[in-house]
Amino acid sequence: MPSTAVQAPCPASPPRSPRFVQLHHEDQAAVREELLRGLTAPAAFTAPKYLYDALGSRLFDAITELPEYYPTRTEAAIFSAHASDMAAHVPAGATLVDLGAGNCQKAARLFEVFRPKRYVAVDISADYLRDALDALQRQHPALDMVGVGMDFSHSLALPPEARGDAAPAGSDANPVLMFYPGSSIGNFTPDAAQTFLREAHGACLRGGAGGGLLIGVDRVKPASLLEPAYDDALGVTAAFNRNLLPRINRLTGADFQLADWRHVALFNSAESRIEMHLEALRAVTVRWPGGERSFASGERIHTENSYKWQEADFAALLRSAGFTSTQVWTDARGWFSVFWAQT
Ligand code: AVI
Repeated sequence: MPSTAVQAPCPASPPRSPRFVQLHHEDQAAVREELLRGLTAPAAFTAPKYLYDALGSRLFDAITELPEYYPTRTEAAIFSAHASDMAAHVPAGATLVDLGAGNCQKAARLFEVFRPKRYVAVDISADYLRDALDALQRQHPALDMVGVGMDFSHSLALPPEARGDAAPAGSDANPVLMFYPGSSIGNFTPDAAQTFLREAHGACLRGGAGGGLLIGVDRVKPASLLEPAYDDALGVTAAFNRNLLPRINRLTGADFQLADWRHVALFNSAESRIEMHLEALRAVTVRWPGGERSFASGERIHTENSYKWQEADFAALLRSAGFTSTQVWTDARGWFSVFWAQT
């Protein structure tokens, strides 16, 4: 009887799973203090990050589908039309660092053309990234994936797991390809944008030669196009802005009443920015444990800036932050720019 060699079953390698690092921890007292400092300033203001609680994030997703809000679909069209050309500029086998990754879909669409070695999704909450990254890992089992929870609006000090220089022992550093789409850079003042871009440049340099930043930037255009994008007919952006008030109440114990406030969006052409405000519809006094603030009818709380850039000015900003060369792609109407800035 012929003997049959019985082969031991080959142990299947365990499926790869993403790693998660949470760096940002909310300090409730510091949040309350920051909010109340802004609300009691002579010209009241709040930082735009407070717009994004769970409901705010869903309202923002809805904004991106509005007919008036052109940036998301215009940028997507630029990526569809030019991804292969972009791939000729960005480094192959890179660590792709996705800043403000959200549901990770924008970056995932580029995996096939950019072929990164590692994908690092950065957002304020690693928990928020978990489902998206787990699903993405199943679709791309060979790609090393890391989720990082950090607030990079203050500092872009990435953890070692997320840097190109943290490649496995014996292998070379991966070039770093930073990805910052959506014109979120517009939510920084020009000074803060320059600081942020300098930090991004430093992070790209650490990954070695060939790294750089791929960034989406909204361009200056007439107020008649810009203002409806931030004050849509359906009122979704108004809800996004007004949703801040119950959030402030939860975070500070204040008693803002939604019915007292309306959404205002205007283009400040001298500053080249859309401003969002909440405007008091009547004289109101808002109280919280330990303090209060009276607002006259028509007085405003400044809740967000969205800077719009001329292409040449943004290219100059990238150079002032240390990047040596820039390449730019735009849409047929010239409404939006995607820059590749090389270290
Ligand atoms: C996230 N960021 C780029 C959006 C923007 O266009 O400035 C936020 C936004 N605010 C109102 N609509 C959209």
